[in-house]
Amino acid sequence: MNDATLAADPWSAAPFDASTAQAVQHLVQQLSAPQRLWLSGYLAGSASAAATQLESTAIGVDPRGPAVTILYGSQSGNCEGLAKQIGESFAKRGVPHIALDMLDCRKSHLQDARRLLVIVSTHGEGDPPDRAAALHELLHSRKAPSLKHLKYSVLALGDSSYERFCETGRQFDKRLAELGAQQFQARVDCDVDYEHSARQWMDSVVEDIVREHDGPAVVHRVVSERTLAAVSTAYTRKNPFLAPLLLNQRLTAGDVTRDVRHIELSLEGSGIHYEPGDALGIVARNASESVEALLAALPYTPDTSVSHESTERPLRDALAHCDIGRVTRAFIEKYLERLTDASSSASGAFLPVNADDQVTQLVELVRQHPPKDLHATDFVQLLRPLAPRLYSIASSPRATPDEVHLTVALVQFELNGRLHYGVASKQLADLQGDDAVAPVYLHRNPNFRLPADSKAPVIMIGPGTGVAPFRAFVAEREAVGATGRNWLFFGGRHFRADFLYQTEWLDYRKRGALHRIELAFSRDQADKLYVQHRMREHGRELYAWLQEGAHLYVCGDAQQMANDVQQTLLHILQEHGGHSPERAAEELLELQRARRYQRDVY
Ligand SMILES: Cc1cc2nc3c(=O)[nH]c(=O)nc-3n(C[C@H](O)[C@H](O)[C@H](O)COP(=O)(O)OP(=O)(O)OC[C@H]3O[C@@H](n4cnc5c(N)ncnc54)[C@H](O)[C@@H]3O)c2cc1C
Ligand SMILES: Cc1cc2nc3c(=O)[nH]c(=O)nc-3n(C[C@H](O)[C@H](O)[C@H](O)COP(=O)(O)O)c2cc1C
Repeated sequence: MNDATLAADPWSAAPFDASTAQAVQHLVQQLSAPQRLWLSGYLAGSASAAATQLESTAIGVDPRGPAVTILYGSQSGNCEGLAKQIGESFAKRGVPHIALDMLDCRKSHLQDARRLLVIVSTHGEGDPPDRAAALHELLHSRKAPSLKHLKYSVLALGDSSYERFCETGRQFDKRLAELGAQQFQARVDCDVDYEHSARQWMDSVVEDIVREHDGPAVVHRVVSERTLAAVSTAYTRKNPFLAPLLLNQRLTAGDVTRDVRHIELSLEGSGIHYEPGDALGIVARNASESVEALLAALPYTPDTSVSHESTERPLRDALAHCDIGRVTRAFIEKYLERLTDASSSASGAFLPVNADDQVTQLVELVRQHPPKDLHATDFVQLLRPLAPRLYSIASSPRATPDEVHLTVALVQFELNGRLHYGVASKQLADLQGDDAVAPVYLHRNPNFRLPADSKAPVIMIGPGTGVAPFRAFVAEREAVGATGRNWLFFGGRHFRADFLYQTEWLDYRKRGALHRIELAFSRDQADKLYVQHRMREHGRELYAWLQEGAHLYVCGDAQQMANDVQQTLLHILQEHGGHSPERAAEELLELQRARRYQRDVY
């Protein structure tokens, strides 16, 4: 069929039967122009999910469907990466399987599943990742299906410095059992250094399933385009690239304590290729003052050789790479148990001193209960490795090749009357001189991507350092000549001190690369003004942009801002779309499924 025929009768090429084609045609004719435009944006956005399903039916040859269903719920890509890895192991062993993002999981997937592998992280304060929330809610509702037919195992990712460690994985585990599913391997909870425990869980699960699998050796798997596109680089958090510093410039006014830096690093020769939306991992190292303060409280000589992360190294060096700041109640209990000294172990009387009653300082704990009978290696092995920190990339590889830019707020806090700094933000803020380097690796974020269709409008909500990825987005859209409009909502405390990248935004406006910018400076007037207030003020237009297929992104503070913005969005869908609260919530979920509502909040 040639193009002319297609243009004359597009329905003749429709991939469904004549009566369905007629029904769709009839429906489309009833829609107004803006409604059609909105629908086209919606369909384009949901195409990748649909493609996933198509691939599944095209490749699958085992009539019983996949032997294994891998469900992943990931915010920043770790669980997604592990789902891909275990999928590859099954593929190599010829086990039919399907890998599904939790947001794309329907009841029918669960009903068809035989072996279910759940790989999920925890975010917020013990909450599911955005893309896992709907399934989590479904399973905990009265609409949850019976799962008596399936066997499952859960791999939970988390960070034990949070009070509700691996909470979402625990909840999935408990709920699957309540719904009748049988656990065939115990859940594994992984801390920040998750690779080893995750590998063990994966190996053991694969072995178990391969042993039982008696079906034909076929590859029946679903891997989204986004996952396939991920290119690995040689540099990881265990083997970071030492990126030379190109620029370290303060963005906030010099007379305020808030110190936000624009940092440029060179990636030349690294082979690291990032996309706007990705983050850069910084392999953090404790400041020498913090290490020395701890060493002074310990009964060991600083050069004592200890075994740490499979190598022998001096204690001082090992402590630079361990988490020696806050300790949790769980750590205190574990530590006191290890001390053989009766007064220490029996006391358990160490009282956390912080106001929130959750954390205290390792150095204080050690001063009150010195590890007298503990070997230095045992002491070090009780500590967690210092977790790398992520920073949203604020540059476009097309606009500034071989460079990566970051927007870093220096974390400062007071303890016992002394000013302290955040480990990684201080390390970055202190970079200076010709020889300065930062140990970095690429952290892909497939859940925060510009629309594939460069004509689609984009709405970006990023107060504070949340603006970083949007600097990358706008630079990228300009560099590739995207014709879709760009609308930025930015905020801070004061216009004069906190308007990050002010001149750049004004230049983009002049050049027509940024079509609208809404500003909210909270403390420049008597009443507090935040980005969500600006969204509401422009609610009608914001709704119109969404109807035209806009993709909406939120980046920055997870504790307050992200939730306020989401509530405001729901409100706009109700007020300007005429929807009930329930319908507005469904619309938002649909936007999320179509990857037109994406968040990167921390
Ligand atoms: C996907 C993602 C993207 C991000 N993007 C950015 C970005 O673009 N820009 C940006 O600036 N940040 C960003 N962050 C946050 C960043 O990763 C770090 O969390 C942040 O810089 C703090 O790290 P730090 O090592 O400096 O501070 P930490 O040392 O981790 O301290 C953090 C906080 O913990 C508390 N604390 C630490 N030590 C102690 C102690 N001993 N006693 C009591 N309290 C303590 C303090 O309240 C402090 O505020 C992002 C995070 C994520 C997950
Ligand atoms: C903002 C934020 C909040 C988090 N909250 C928790 C938490 O409450 N409990 C927990 O165990 N882990 C928490 N984590 C740690 C993540 O679960 C962990 O980094 C995990 O490896 C992320 O996997 P993902 O990339 O697949 O989402 C949090 C991480 C971030 C960035």
